[in-house]
Amino acid sequence: KDASVEVTVDTATTGPVIDKHIFGQFAEHLGTGIYGGVWVGKDSPIPNVRGIRTDVVTALKALKVPNVRWPGGCFADEYHWRDGIGPVDKRRVQINTNWGGVPESNAFGTHEFMDFAEQIGSEAYISVNIGSGTAAEASAWIEYMTAEKDTTLAKERAANGHPAPWKVPILGLGNENWGCGGAMSADHYVEEMKRFANFTRNFNPAQREGAARMKRIAVGWDSDKLDYTEEVMKAWSTHVYSWDIEGVSLHKYTVGGGWPPSRPSTGFGNDDYALMIGDTLSMDTLLKKQKAIMDKYDPEKKLLIAVDEWGAWLAPTPGSNPGFLQQQNSMRDGVIAALNLNIFARHADRVKIANIAQMINVLQAMILTDGSKMVLTPTYHVFRMYVPFQDAQFAPVKFASGDYAVGERKIPRVDAMAAKDKSGQVWVSLVNVDPDAGTSVTIPGFRTASGEVLTAPKVDSVNTFAAPSVVAPKAISGKASGNGVTIALPPRSVTVVKVSK
Ligand code: AHR
Repeated sequence: KDASVEVTVDTATTGPVIDKHIFGQFAEHLGTGIYGGVWVGKDSPIPNVRGIRTDVVTALKALKVPNVRWPGGCFADEYHWRDGIGPVDKRRVQINTNWGGVPESNAFGTHEFMDFAEQIGSEAYISVNIGSGTAAEASAWIEYMTAEKDTTLAKERAANGHPAPWKVPILGLGNENWGCGGAMSADHYVEEMKRFANFTRNFNPAQREGAARMKRIAVGWDSDKLDYTEEVMKAWSTHVYSWDIEGVSLHKYTVGGGWPPSRPSTGFGNDDYALMIGDTLSMDTLLKKQKAIMDKYDPEKKLLIAVDEWGAWLAPTPGSNPGFLQQQNSMRDGVIAALNLNIFARHADRVKIANIAQMINVLQAMILTDGSKMVLTPTYHVFRMYVPFQDAQFAPVKFASGDYAVGERKIPRVDAMAAKDKSGQVWVSLVNVDPDAGTSVTIPGFRTASGEVLTAPKVDSVNTFAAPSVVAPKAISGKASGNGVTIALPPRSVTVVKVSK
């Protein structure tokens, strides 16, 4: 059979901008995601700047991380911001009840998080506590962070070492409040959410009003729970002047069925690979369902979707604390990352924020650390290769690759996505999902293609501290052929190329 695929890129149609914020990250107080992964403390022998590890900052800078969601997750609805400011030795030590039951020192608080965001060149996505906090507490936190001067809270911030206000461009109004965020019915959540949206005022004049105003994200649905999105949208469609929101969230993890997550992160074969790829592709269906609800109440697409938790959630690494959600990250996870980013790009008219769970050492991480050691994962490499798509203009593609089959299961062989960056350069992402067969792609109308390809000896190949470059990008280029350019794609690979005429 002829395995080659023609991918036609329509650069004449003006698609929506692929918001850079779909490449956002999520860093929760969970396991070693913060403590050990980001924060080692000022006195650590691990090189750091004001307690934040230098190797991690250097690696993250290359991803041009647009925003980091913090402090949770479930942790956010038990977080009280005053516990994390002021002299470190006076901060409240509590138990992280959600994640492993370990002590939480609060050594990493607002100032440390904002310092981290600044060091990696990112923006802050702050999630406020609706589940166990008050609107007054959330309101005071936003004032503490954003008030210019002369308020008591701005002076307190200055006394704690940061006279200049910070920016808070994105604000999460709770997290999964149907579950760990307080087990609220959708109606109850909506009433709470409206008060929080009303009182969490951003004091930065540029982020108060107009197009650049702070984006308040209400909790939407998780996988198959539709009621939150419906109720939030219904309330928003008749809202009064005193409150507003700018977006609704959606959470979807790639689990492969069953709970708790049990699919292995290494040592799996083609069956398990296909199971996970099939599950991850259902992100498209979920987005279509959420969009259909939002379109009913908001046909002008004023509100965005924030997929502010997504990624592969696998069985914990044997021997690790199961509450730390530690897992390895394989070539398969690199493919999962690319497929999801492509889906978000195809829904760029609504999906304007997304946050992979999670940044370091937790779930589908970019980076794994152990003491002073650090390794970059296949998912990290995909995010780095996708940097050119940040704020690029989506260009529709047409292709028919057919499926490959694993038993009864059929999986599309190839995925493709394209966009034009601000300089007019066209970039194409090509994913050869097939675990065993290479293929070639021809893009008509272009003569050159060059970029990077990420592949590995096996779908479950991983990078380790001892062998950090098993899965690492390599240069790739295409050859002019017929009226186009042809690129040979290895099996189980993610390729990003710039193409020219
Ligand atoms: O990312 C881990 C957890 O998954 C988050 O804390 C929670 O929001 C979700 O259930």
